[in-house]
Amino acid sequence: MSDTIKLIYNGEEHEFPVVTGSQNEKGIDIKKLRGTTGLVTLDPGFKNTGSTTSGITFLNGEQGVLRYRGYPIEQLAENASFTEVSYLLLYGELPNKEQLADFDRDLTMHTLVHEDIRNFFLAYPSKSHPMGQLLSIVSSLSTFYPESLDPNRSNEARQLTMIRLLSKFPTIVSWIHKKSVGHPIVYPKNNLDYVSNFLNMTFGQVTDDAEVDPVIASAINKLLILHGDHEQNCSTSTVKIVGSSHANLYASVSAGIAALWGPLHGGANQAVLEMLENIKNDGGNVDKWLDKAKDKNDPFRLMGFGHRVYKNFDPRATIIKKSADEVLEKLGVNDPVLEIAKKLEMAALNDDYFKSRKLFPNVDFYSGIIYRAIGFPVEMFTVLFALGRLPGWIAQWKEMRDLKTPIGRPRQIYTGETERQFVPLAQRK
Ligand SMILES: CC(C)(COP(=O)(O)OP(=O)(O)OC[C@H]1O[C@@H](n2cnc3c(N)ncnc32)[C@H](O)[C@@H]1OP(=O)(O)O)[C@@H](O)C(=O)NCCC(=O)NCCS
Repeated sequence: MSDTIKLIYNGEEHEFPVVTGSQNEKGIDIKKLRGTTGLVTLDPGFKNTGSTTSGITFLNGEQGVLRYRGYPIEQLAENASFTEVSYLLLYGELPNKEQLADFDRDLTMHTLVHEDIRNFFLAYPSKSHPMGQLLSIVSSLSTFYPESLDPNRSNEARQLTMIRLLSKFPTIVSWIHKKSVGHPIVYPKNNLDYVSNFLNMTFGQVTDDAEVDPVIASAINKLLILHGDHEQNCSTSTVKIVGSSHANLYASVSAGIAALWGPLHGGANQAVLEMLENIKNDGGNVDKWLDKAKDKNDPFRLMGFGHRVYKNFDPRATIIKKSADEVLEKLGVNDPVLEIAKKLEMAALNDDYFKSRKLFPNVDFYSGIIYRAIGFPVEMFTVLFALGRLPGWIAQWKEMRDLKTPIGRPRQIYTGETERQFVPLAQRK
């Protein structure tokens, strides 16, 4: 079998190597395309374009497979802690007991954020969106750690920046939540693990610690793991494009948070809940909303349905759905919005429009239902996605720098005016 591709252009034949991944995925290496043919490729939305080789996450959208560093997501979600998975994503192997203890201790030692960051909350309007606050605070960390701006720092120094970001993120997220509900912030506690500490800072009070239910801690742990990485998605690619200019990690991740915010990406979990509320308030007529989603003249889409790469099912959605049932049962929640969600899911899965386009519920369809049952306001949902995705962003940023990836700079096919002469203002019609 040939491992090259032949391209005939203007009567000339050009050969390009075919690259094969460890799971037998194949791609055409077109690094020399422009140099040898003068052509560029055109692929809006990068639907066919591989931007990198990567050893972090394997995803097969047709078969619904997701693995971090070779480990199936189902096994990780069932058995691992979020910090174990973060270690795996960052360093390539599951930690042994000692490595995990060291990693957890490092994460615990850096949870405090500079006191001046509290002043930021005085400046944000009281109703400002948590994602807007999150991306600006994360970007501002670079001003507290100016040494992180040097792209040629030692590995140890770079490592410290990664740990700092992972450690401080839950503190920042919980403070954003506290400020939005008007409660005093709660400081981190060193005797708690990553997830319990986050839940205590979020739902505890300065007067009393939170009583963290193990079912809820386990559901949040699972949700964070499921969001841990998703190879070259929109926000991760943004982190990498920004990082490819050798911008610092805080700025790169802040850009990723901005990309995640959009309703077609991480913002979908908020959009799902808002959609379900709208359907409920509109009388709960699921068919009417399905028809809207199918109507090409109506901009409405069924939020939480469809995925760029999963075309059969989203393996994360299967795990989350089970977790949602457990949490709702444990909390004794009888949420009418959940009934709407179930009806909508059933109707869409039996509808030809959705079946023929392979549109299935994705991770965001169920995650919001769990977050809501636990007590997070809807505006916090995408922030929680960011908390889970953080180790993936950092691991991908690190891999990009280790691979010495060149600055990201796509080409274009120009379709504007050809050269024309400047017309002075007085002579313009
Ligand atoms: C995720 C998403 C952006 C993927 O987009 P994509 O890969 O570019 O797919 P397209 O937008 O080309 O969609 C393919 C077809 O399905 C339709 N479609 C996709 N998602 C749909 C949805 N949620 N509701 C209704 N129709 C949808 C498109 O209109 C298109 O139909 P057509 O072939 O008749 O033109 C898209 O499915 C979507 O907008 N989903 C809702 C938002 C969401 O849940 N995002 C979270 C992703 S984890």
